[in-house]
This record gives sequence, C-alpha cells and structure tokens, in this order.
Amino acid sequence: MVDIHTHILFEVDDGAESREESLMMCQIAQENNIDAIITTSHFVDVRTAREYVSTRQDRIDSLKEEAARRFGVQLYPGAEVHITQSMLELEDFSPFTLNHSRYLLAEFPFRLDHPQIILDQVDQLFDRGVVPVLAHPERLIYLQKDYGLVNELNDMGALFQVTLSSLAGNFGREALWLSMAMVQANMVDCLASDAHRPVGHRGIDLLDQAVYIRPSLPDYLMHRMLVETPTQILNNQAISSRRVDPIFRR
Ligand SMILES: [Fe+2]
Repeated sequence: MVDIHTHILFEVDDGAESREESLMMCQIAQENNIDAIITTSHFVDVRTAREYVSTRQDRIDSLKEEAARRFGVQLYPGAEVHITQSMLELEDFSPFTLNHSRYLLAEFPFRLDHPQIILDQVDQLFDRGVVPVLAHPERLIYLQKDYGLVNELNDMGALFQVTLSSLAGNFGREALWLSMAMVQANMVDCLASDAHRPVGHRGIDLLDQAVYIRPSLPDYLMHRMLVETPTQILNNQAISSRRVDPIFRR
C-alpha cells in the first residue's frame, strides 16, 4: 500500500519528534503492509519554500536507506500545502507536489468566512498546472455544513483524500458522516493515515484502523482507495475513471 499523507519526517512540524520515532513509524507501516510513504510535512509559509525543500531532503537522506533496509519502506518527497491567497502566489508548485507528480496535496483552512472561495482557489490550482488532492475534506467545517460544495469540487475534477481515522469517528460526528457519505458515493480517491505518530488515532497503522470500515465496504473499493489510486498518484499516472453519485446531507 501507498500512504500519500504522512508527517513522518522528524523535527519538521508537529509530526515525528525524533529520528527514532520516524523509524518506529516505518516499522508500524511495514506491519500494516505499507511499502511506500510520501512525506507530506506541513508547508504553510510561502516565504520558506527554499528552506522547506532543503530540510525535507536532509531528513529523507537521513532515513531513506535504513527505512528501506530494515523495513522495506520507500520514502518519497511531497508536502501538505496550506492554501491561502499568498500561497497561490508561489512561483513554482512542482517541488511541492506528491513525488514530483502532477498531484498536489492541498490543505484548505478548517474554517472560512466565505467558503465559496475554495472553488476559485481550486480553479487557480488547475490553472497553475497541478491537480489538487484535497487533504481530509471531511474535517473542513464549511464542507460538513454544505455537501453541495463537495459535489461542486468533485465536478471540477478535484480529488479527495479522506483520513482513515475520520471513518472511525476520531474527528467527531460531522467528519464521520461526511466521510461515510463520500465513501459510499465512490467519491473518495485515497484513504491515507495523516499520521503524526506510530499508533493511535494519529497513527500510521492503516490496516488496524481499516477494521472499522472494512466489513461495510466491498473489497474492490477498499483496494481502489488504499492501493490503486495512491499508486497512480505516486507514479504520476492518470486516475482510473470513477462513477460518482452526488452526496446529500442528512
Ligand atoms: Fe496532515
């Protein structure tokens, strides 16, 4: 499996706090059948672009060989890019996409005074030549309140990464309902861990977390969200077409 959203690099953000913890996360990943991890530390300040890339390289260099040798886990560069108007002025998004693909893991603010702006910003990202993969849309308050916006984003061609532990209820009822509605409508492209720690509700133990939903979902759908589409993203391939029904708020 490929995990496209992780905070596994140590001493960069609020993820792994030490090199040992990063390696512990690789071990838990291996135990959960994850063999490829895209590192997506938070990238929030457009002025720190250069520093971000060099720190990321430094951490990956420090971990890469040991992660592969001891745990059979490959590490790839990426970023969780916090989208604001100033971030959209970034000159070049290519160093920040998922493994240098066309896909950008885009995190929008949890609250927005004018939620419609998200449509315009997603449009701007497409204009800049990247395909936005929305990080944990199910946790954004304005999407929880307005499923119509989710349908519009989907119609625009945005992709969706749902955090698996949302489906276990770890981010509250609203996140659980929205993520369930999206999964059932076949709207979720990737399930990822958004892991900050080895285990627990911010853990990288994806298979252990998947027990919460596996009985209620067909295997082919689990496979598409956990293996097929994340692999296509990692390899910069087109995403196989999906049939999507609109979702409705209860
Ligand atoms: Fe994250």
